[in-house]
Amino acid sequence: MNAFGRVFRVHIFGESHGTSVGITIDGCPAGLPLAADDFTTDIERRKGGKQKGTTPRQEEDKPLFYSGVFNGKTTGAPLTILFENNNTRSGDYEKGRAIPRPGHADFVAHQKYGGFEDFRGGGHFSGRLTLCLVAAGVVAKKLLPAVGISATILEIGGEQDLEKGLQKAIDQKDSIGGIVQCVATGIPLGLGEPFFDSAESLLSHAVFAIPAVKGIEFGAGFAAARMFGADHNDAIQDATGRTVTNHAGGVVGGITNGNDLVFRIAIKPTSSTPKDQTSLNWETGQVETFSIKGRHDLCIALRVPPVLEAVTAVVLADLMLLDGHLPKVHNGDR
Ligand SMILES: Cc1cc2nc3c(=O)[nH]c(=O)nc-3n(C[C@H](O)[C@H](O)[C@H](O)COP(=O)(O)O)c2cc1C
Repeated sequence: MNAFGRVFRVHIFGESHGTSVGITIDGCPAGLPLAADDFTTDIERRKGGKQKGTTPRQEEDKPLFYSGVFNGKTTGAPLTILFENNNTRSGDYEKGRAIPRPGHADFVAHQKYGGFEDFRGGGHFSGRLTLCLVAAGVVAKKLLPAVGISATILEIGGEQDLEKGLQKAIDQKDSIGGIVQCVATGIPLGLGEPFFDSAESLLSHAVFAIPAVKGIEFGAGFAAARMFGADHNDAIQDATGRTVTNHAGGVVGGITNGNDLVFRIAIKPTSSTPKDQTSLNWETGQVETFSIKGRHDLCIALRVPPVLEAVTAVVLADLMLLDGHLPKVHNGDR
């Protein structure tokens, strides 16, 4: 369903053009200082419109605390945070309703929900909901002062020169994908379980909640398949488990090994390309040529780093609470 985590459990709700989007976090320790200002940096990093290739839609994105915060600290009760949608332009979507956009969720949502889905702006499938993930990440990061999480874009359209990759799409009047890497430091050894709840599985589970993610690899990832064992093995250096190389990406046997967590994700080109496309028109029963209207990100990867950091923080907070690395009641000093 639309919830993730066992102790630090995040529920996500809302639609792109509904009244609001938001989260409820159940299991957030009491006593954590929390104010609207804590969210500013990451929310501003996620916003579109600031750089070439991102959506011009502007929203204030001010967090509204509906429950779980009292006198500036979390209470231990479910924490609900809402963000209003004020800058919607649903007309663009009413006109295109008859033609499901290839690569977007229009077709599957219509079939699964029998036409009752809110299709405006991608509804519940919209990248707008990643604002909620970022908000959950802000709370999770506050619980993890000793952990550093940083995501960076490695390439756009196969180019390490990001400008060049983006320009390729602009010149082609098309959208483009990219690869984003996340590195987390200060991870305790021992998080995760050998099988279904391996650290890799849980991170992947959360990462695939980010719309437009099509792949993930840890450490050497797919390149490991082309290496010899002697080259791939990470030689252990000391009793902390520190290794010379980190081809494992910080996880062995599903369990964090005390080295940096390193993984990369593949972001597909935005399905809403400015180019002409073909799709089935539900009303006429014919395949038609059409072009997408509305405000879109040309390159979603540009907006992903704060979202990726956020889901990583959520997974780590959950695992650390589960394994007793974090207090269930915060001392409130942080
Ligand atoms: C930050 C962010 C912004 C996005 N913006 C757009 C957009 O402007 N237009 C679009 O078609 N898809 C956008 N998406 C992706 C769609 O939401 C996604 O492709 C769609 O829901 C289908 O899901 P899937 O790609 O995971 O299969 C965005 C995703 C993210 C993470």
